[in-house]
Amino acid sequence: MHTWFMVFIWAWCLPLMFAVMAAEEQQGGGCSAKCGNFTISDPFWLTDRETGRSCGSPGPRDFELTCLNSTHPVLPSFVPHSADFAIIDVYYGERSLRVVDLGKMPLLHDSSNTNSCLPIWNTSVKLAPPFKIAHVNLELILYNCTEEAAAAARLKKELVQAKTMRCLNTSNTFVRAGVPYDPTGKYSGYALEGCDPIALPVLRLPSGKTNASHYEQLIMEGFLLKWDLPPPPRKFTPSNHLLF
Ligand SMILES: *[C@@H]1O[C@H](CO)[C@@H](O)[C@H](O)[C@H]1NC(C)=O
Ligand SMILES: *[C@@H]1O[C@H](CO)[C@@H](O)[C@H](O)[C@H]1NC(C)=O
Ligand SMILES: *[C@@H]1O[C@H](CO)[C@@H](O)[C@H](O)[C@H]1NC(C)=O
Ligand SMILES: *[C@@H]1O[C@H](CO)[C@@H](O)[C@H](O)[C@H]1NC(C)=O
Ligand SMILES: *[C@@H]1O[C@H](CO)[C@@H](O)[C@H](O)[C@H]1NC(C)=O
Ligand SMILES: *[C@@H]1O[C@H](CO)[C@@H](O)[C@H](O)[C@H]1NC(C)=O
Repeated sequence: MHTWFMVFIWAWCLPLMFAVMAAEEQQGGGCSAKCGNFTISDPFWLTDRETGRSCGSPGPRDFELTCLNSTHPVLPSFVPHSADFAIIDVYYGERSLRVVDLGKMPLLHDSSNTNSCLPIWNTSVKLAPPFKIAHVNLELILYNCTEEAAAAARLKKELVQAKTMRCLNTSNTFVRAGVPYDPTGKYSGYALEGCDPIALPVLRLPSGKTNASHYEQLIMEGFLLKWDLPPPPRKFTPSNHLLF
């Protein structure tokens, strides 16, 4: 008797439940803005790479994320055809993100196949406002040196020779850590003749420093990005209309 009553109630509620679901579908695009165990919320929104559907509330294009492999939200690089940034953590309150520059992943793998190497960019050039590298990061500089320059670099105590680095000849590649962030991106004080520098931000170790010997771990742990809020829309008032 009791059970029958429950079934009756359930059957009676069913159309109502469908109505609510349909309403949600229309309103929110029918998808929760989830990627792996990340819930994407304002100002970010999510586009499904396969279906092209948007979840969340589409806002400025800068804040559009995609979902990589159904596990990690990805912030696109501002340089076309260059590798994006995988998001590891989002701190909405601080307006910051911890990200890994996927363009640096090849550096962590040994491979004899050097044909598939894309150019490796300085991380800062792949970012544009409202995103900026937080000043708490330190830079890691990779030097891709000529043979003569490598001989000189080997004598420098502060440089560590690379161990595994696909796309670069490790005998001629050196790592420097702990370089303070330079907003101009020039790092002119750290130039080495005969060596091409590639700069990427990394987080400080709990000691407050970074150690070039641990460059693989440092690259994997990512760095902090901050974002600025878009300026509030300007109100149209008759007085500023008259002025312009
Ligand atoms: C996400 O889930 C994985 C396991 O699937 C877990 O290891 C990780 O800590 C979770 N991350 C967050 C931010 O909850
Ligand atoms: C994507 O996920 C699969 C398993 O679901 C895993 O084997 C693969 O390594 C992942 N790829 C990336 C790029 O994370
Ligand atoms: C490293 O330098 C060599 C020449 O010294 C150049 O051919 C090569 O493309 C450079 N590699 C990268 C990844 O910048
Ligand atoms: C890497 O550099 C070393 C020393 O300059 C050289 O002997 C070696 O042939 C180079 N390896 C490759 C794969 O270019
Ligand atoms: C990275 O930045 C340094 C310093 O501005 C510059 O010398 C170097 O050519 C840049 N590397 C690439 C690959 O753009
Ligand atoms: C950096 O790490 C290496 C290897 O773990 C260690 O031998 C070295 O003492 C460390 N250097 C500094 C300055 O902490």
